[in-house]
Amino acid sequence: MPDEHRYPDEQREAVYRVIAERRDVRQGFRPDPVPADVLGRVLAAAHQAPSVGLSQPWDFIVLTDRARREQIAALARRHRDEFAAGLPGARARAFDRLKIESILDTPVNIVVTCDRTRGGRHTLGRHVQPQTAEFSSVLAVANLWLAARAEGLGVGWVSFFDERELAAQLGLPAHLEVIAYLCLGYVTGFAAEPELATAGWARRRPVSWAVHAEEFGRRGLPGEEPVDPLADVIAAIVPPDAAAITAARERQDRMTKPRGSLGVLEEVSVRLAGLAGACPAPLPEPACVAIFAADHGVHAQGVTPWPQEVTAQMVANFLAGGAVVNAFAAQAGAEVTVVDVGVAASLDPVPGLLPRKIAPGTADFTEGPAMTREQATAALTAGAEIARDLVAAGNRCLVTGDMGIANTTASAALICAFTGADPAEATGRGTGIDAATYARKVDVVCRGLALHRPDPADPVGVLAAFGGFEHAALAGFILGAAGLRVPVILDGVISGAAALAAAALAPDVTAACFAGHRSVEPGHAIALSHLGLTPLVDLGLRLGEGTGALLALPLVQSAARALRDVATFDSAGVTEKP
Ligand SMILES: Cc1cc2nc3c(=O)[nH]c(=O)nc-3n(C[C@H](O)[C@H](O)[C@H](O)COP(=O)(O)O)c2cc1C
Repeated sequence: MPDEHRYPDEQREAVYRVIAERRDVRQGFRPDPVPADVLGRVLAAAHQAPSVGLSQPWDFIVLTDRARREQIAALARRHRDEFAAGLPGARARAFDRLKIESILDTPVNIVVTCDRTRGGRHTLGRHVQPQTAEFSSVLAVANLWLAARAEGLGVGWVSFFDERELAAQLGLPAHLEVIAYLCLGYVTGFAAEPELATAGWARRRPVSWAVHAEEFGRRGLPGEEPVDPLADVIAAIVPPDAAAITAARERQDRMTKPRGSLGVLEEVSVRLAGLAGACPAPLPEPACVAIFAADHGVHAQGVTPWPQEVTAQMVANFLAGGAVVNAFAAQAGAEVTVVDVGVAASLDPVPGLLPRKIAPGTADFTEGPAMTREQATAALTAGAEIARDLVAAGNRCLVTGDMGIANTTASAALICAFTGADPAEATGRGTGIDAATYARKVDVVCRGLALHRPDPADPVGVLAAFGGFEHAALAGFILGAAGLRVPVILDGVISGAAALAAAALAPDVTAACFAGHRSVEPGHAIALSHLGLTPLVDLGLRLGEGTGALLALPLVQSAARALRDVATFDSAGVTEKP
């Protein structure tokens, strides 16, 4: 019998139960002391953890003295305040409601340390991966956490510390490192879900996203067909919910204001309800703008006076917080994420940059396809996964942004391919070009269309023909938002072109799309009318980056809040117009 060593059912279930019911606890601690024998069992469980070369690099410092803990709590408070100060608006408000430590609410605190030197020079397995020492101490924490749950003890892990500062405060020898600061005590109850999930801060990823068959990216659970993330996303896109739409319309008519007096915003609120399948819809906050950056082979045709290096330079500017999109995002309280899907330069890893490069720029579409179909699919998938990750991280509104020198040329070609528009009408002046460059740009689009003879019924083929990687990734991003029923505010002509590709793949995607603004690029209006979207702002912008969409963010949020918060004639006792 291959499973002869399996535990009896009841014991096996207890193991899975303790794993499922272990929680990070920060609320509801009771003052009762933890008996020494219970604490002893929990620490013994921790000490049985696996460790690299059996080096057992951990030590456990048990703290009960209140004065010591007060000093430590002060350190954590300082870091909490610093973290809060760096958060964008809605995120800061959500964080404010979270309790992040219970240092003084619990009777016992345990510090788990790591001694990287324990076991000497020749610790088996540690010589190539020194960090396995820390991994081992973390496993001791996991054992402790599970044993504590079985004993009915809550554990809260506090990481709001500068590790060296905490080590000094604890008077640790210099070669010891703090791995975990844990607060333990009996509790009034254990929550069924992580508090961060119930508080709407973050969601758990489905296990099928995390399991890959044979190679990274081939997602799927053992025994099941591999998951095609893009097909899954497209399959999840549903038409707007008719009942929620009717409820939202009726509520708008009963709100304490003249019927229709909120104009276009009434329709926005109705569409949000239809998308969410709930009236009122959840508020579209926190919001995050994702700026997809890539370079274009068609740049070689002289369609713009800007050198290609500007794409990478502007990416650096976004990451340093110095671009217009950063200013608008700060004003609107949105987070900024930059995605390298195909910049023709290697970019240093920095916080806020997602490295998802498909290739260093596309090929020149006047000479051949800008990318392969596989690359187009990879970029679409990357965009969809980023949407999913940003929503899993707690965002409830996504905003599109882009950067890519020469990308208005690719956009014009895509718009012509999907709508049948005349290149002379769909091509614009981009960042500002003279008559000769403009004539060349129109000619480039015409030549591209003549070469590829795009079929709008084959959206992946159209994306592959003209690119860029940011268009394909943005299309995936828009599909990803729609699949999760989260609104996505579209920026200008690049997003418009990408949305056409998304709509060609899944027509119902438009239910999730809100046109942030109308760019002065002529192709944008063509794209919006093809998509049936009404732009919220029309201020003569032609910058891209996500700027126009961010200006519309407070409008979309206000529309949602009005539907949710405004009193009705009956509830407020206001007389209706006869
Ligand atoms: C390494 C690590 C550090 C953590 N630090 C903190 C912290 O400083 N404050 C806090 O409130 N929660 C902290 N947590 C708890 C996580 O937020 C929590 O584990 C997560 O939300 C999942 O919830 P669950 O543990 O109840 O399943 C930490 C967890 C880990 C694993």
